[in-house]
Amino acid sequence: MHNTRDSFGSKFGAIAALAGSAVGLGNIWKFPYEVGNNGGGAFLLVYIFFTVAIGLPVMLSEFALGRYSGRNAFGTFDRLEPKTAWRYFGVLVLLAATMILSFYGTIAGWTLEYVFKSFTFSFHANTNVNLNSMFSDFITNPYKPVFWQIVFMALTGFIVLAGVKKGIERYTKLMMPLLFVLIVILGIRACTLDGAMEGIKFLFLPKFSELTSQGVLSALGQAFFSLSIGMGVLLTYASYIKKDENLTSISLQVICADTLIAVLAGIAIFPAVFAFNIAPDSGPGLVFLTLPQVFQSMAFGQLWAILFFLLLTMAALTSSISLLEVIVAFFVEEKHISRRKATVISTVIVTIFGILCTLSFGPLKEVHIGNLSIFGIFDYISSNILLPVGGILISIYVGWRFDRRLLETELTNNGELKLGLLKLLIFVLKYVAPLFILVILLHSLGLF
Ligand code: PFF
Repeated sequence: MHNTRDSFGSKFGAIAALAGSAVGLGNIWKFPYEVGNNGGGAFLLVYIFFTVAIGLPVMLSEFALGRYSGRNAFGTFDRLEPKTAWRYFGVLVLLAATMILSFYGTIAGWTLEYVFKSFTFSFHANTNVNLNSMFSDFITNPYKPVFWQIVFMALTGFIVLAGVKKGIERYTKLMMPLLFVLIVILGIRACTLDGAMEGIKFLFLPKFSELTSQGVLSALGQAFFSLSIGMGVLLTYASYIKKDENLTSISLQVICADTLIAVLAGIAIFPAVFAFNIAPDSGPGLVFLTLPQVFQSMAFGQLWAILFFLLLTMAALTSSISLLEVIVAFFVEEKHISRRKATVISTVIVTIFGILCTLSFGPLKEVHIGNLSIFGIFDYISSNILLPVGGILISIYVGWRFDRRLLETELTNNGELKLGLLKLLIFVLKYVAPLFILVILLHSLGLF
């Protein structure tokens, strides 16, 4: 009745859609500045450790739950646990999706402006614009970034409304490889800049003295954010994966693609950061301040700029769609609202919160809670609190409560996965992941 979903047409299609959700601004915009803020290589190491040791088990859990239930995140728990507090896991999911999409739209709006700027020759070779003031003039402007955010959210809403699967599956298959090739080209150019070695060293040589407990929490939050885990997005997408696909191999491929793109983005950015004397801890502006310099130093710089920001926007779109889909699927399947109405309502709500995030770089700059701006609050609460808490709950649920035989059926696919790995997985889900995440969370909140 309300189940209008189909399934992914092929394994590659499923991987492209899942990787489309995972690979996004998190990899190319956020990862480099988190590395820059948290001691370079040390952050990278901790990040990779979390991705493999905790990200992979939680991702597998989401996949197993989602494919087993064949429903959205809220509906999954509602069906599995109609009478217990687990039902309310869905509330956390909706909150996290709304918060992430709000500030995500801000940055995606910035990338759209930079697409526009590249078309209008704002930073191709031989122009003498000051990239710093160009960036700060733009983000503090009360109208322009809001305009682009609305455009981006409208695009997201439009695609979700039009029916995601065919659209996503079709064009992520094209966009993802293109983005990959482009980042490799940019990385090569960045590495051949004068002074590039400093950047490579910064990215790969760990300085543990600069890594704080906040940094460790950020690495965990970043791993969750980048893999799109801990909040039911992958659970929802997994309900579209066919029963005969190998979930373990899909998750390994998604994780490899995601980590590779993040590291490649670092390789494209840090050499340029050092070559052009930009502070590695410039925060959210890092990509927008650095890469235009690289474009200016390249033949056909304008063309590269257009391509890069267009693809970055596409990468952001394939992620924002997956976030909006979580909220829309909730309204459609649980509240029985039409897809059109659900999409309009969700898009409008998220856009309103999003505009507050966007304005917190300009007119609402003075509004602070603690030492965080509105944008900072949305980012901190969702990435560093809600996603880890979601991760703990999913690990505990699958490790302790979910029927072991069902888990086995979903993950082994007729015995393809060795039992030894399954035991290890359950051990990690039961003890390692929840404890680990909890300790880091409490520690960085100052409670431990
Ligand atoms: N993983 C996306 C990125 O790295 O940009 C962002 C994201 C999408 C986070 C979907 C969470 C999510 F559920």
